[in-house]
Amino acid sequence: MGFESNGSSASEKPLKFLIYGRTGWIGGLLGKLCEAQGIEFVYGSGRLENRTSLESDLASVRPTHVFNAAGVTGRPNVDWCESHKVETIRTNVVGTLTLADLCREKGLILINYATGCIFEYDQDHPFGSGIGFKEEDEPNFIGSFYSKTKAMVEDLLKNYENVCTLRVRMPISSDLSNPRNFITKITRYEKVVNIPNSMTILDELLPISIKMAKRNLTGIWNFTNPGVVSHNEILEMYKDYIDPNFTWKNFTLEEQAKVIVAPRSNNELDATKLKQEFPELLSIKESLIQYVFKPNQKNPVV
Ligand SMILES: NC(=O)c1ccc[n+]([C@@H]2O[C@H](COP(=O)([O-])OP(=O)(O)OC[C@H]3O[C@@H](n4cnc5c(N)ncnc54)[C@H](OP(=O)(O)O)[C@@H]3O)[C@@H](O)[C@H]2O)c1
Repeated sequence: MGFESNGSSASEKPLKFLIYGRTGWIGGLLGKLCEAQGIEFVYGSGRLENRTSLESDLASVRPTHVFNAAGVTGRPNVDWCESHKVETIRTNVVGTLTLADLCREKGLILINYATGCIFEYDQDHPFGSGIGFKEEDEPNFIGSFYSKTKAMVEDLLKNYENVCTLRVRMPISSDLSNPRNFITKITRYEKVVNIPNSMTILDELLPISIKMAKRNLTGIWNFTNPGVVSHNEILEMYKDYIDPNFTWKNFTLEEQAKVIVAPRSNNELDATKLKQEFPELLSIKESLIQYVFKPNQKNPVV
């Protein structure tokens, strides 16, 4: 699906991205990528829920495409959203919709980094079956307030033909010192569950999101590498490539529930649509090795 944006109508017009989320993990990486690729970009200074501030960003920057990597994710984790519901709604629902609405008014595509944590394994998509949730499936996980706001806004955004919704999941980057990185998180936890999940290798997929903007793609996209990987499989790779002495302890979902406030989602997303558009896309295990473990390899034996 494509949207005839102001950017594409003059295809020779040089790209200029307006990016929200300057201080965030994904927004920060996106800026670095644009720099590396020589793409002109400016970080938005407005707050998402303040339409006037966004209008003034758009007027001064005059972008060809807008990227939204701003959102409330909670610190230290999404449990924060359970006790800050209005703040979460303000950014994740009111703010995201305001930005999408304004971009539509200006004929601009909005690439929106959303989440795939709005699904959980169910009877029709059982654990280990290889049957993933598709783009058109209705969210079935609103167990955390964070996921609830994200599912609501995704549903409303379906009405905006200028929006490209990218369902990111359990993002991983090659920076193993970043505490937001899923690998870093699970290597530091005292105990981890062991469940296969779809995940997003940012080093491979963020450049793809830039290509998606260039192609003026819109609609919903499961923005994960194809296939699933479990916590233990990742930790085995960590042991093989990084630290042969690494050990960990598992616990059950029931035990995990006692140390978190809101339930977490576990699921497989069907990445066929993304793979069809980008046939070079690696499976999650291949991507982990190529983009994360090999560049960080400390153990020469592998
Ligand atoms: N990290 C994950 O595990 C994960 C997984 C799936 C999806 N996602 C989604 O991907 C997006 C980016 O995630 P991230 O991990 O990069 O998040 P992050 O590191 O927490 O960064 C969030 C960014 O959003 C900005 N922000 C928050 N509220 C804002 C508002 N009202 N107006 C303008 N900017 C605002 C923050 O700026 P200030 O500090 O100035 O508020 C910060 O730059 C989020 O929507 C998130 O839900 C993340």
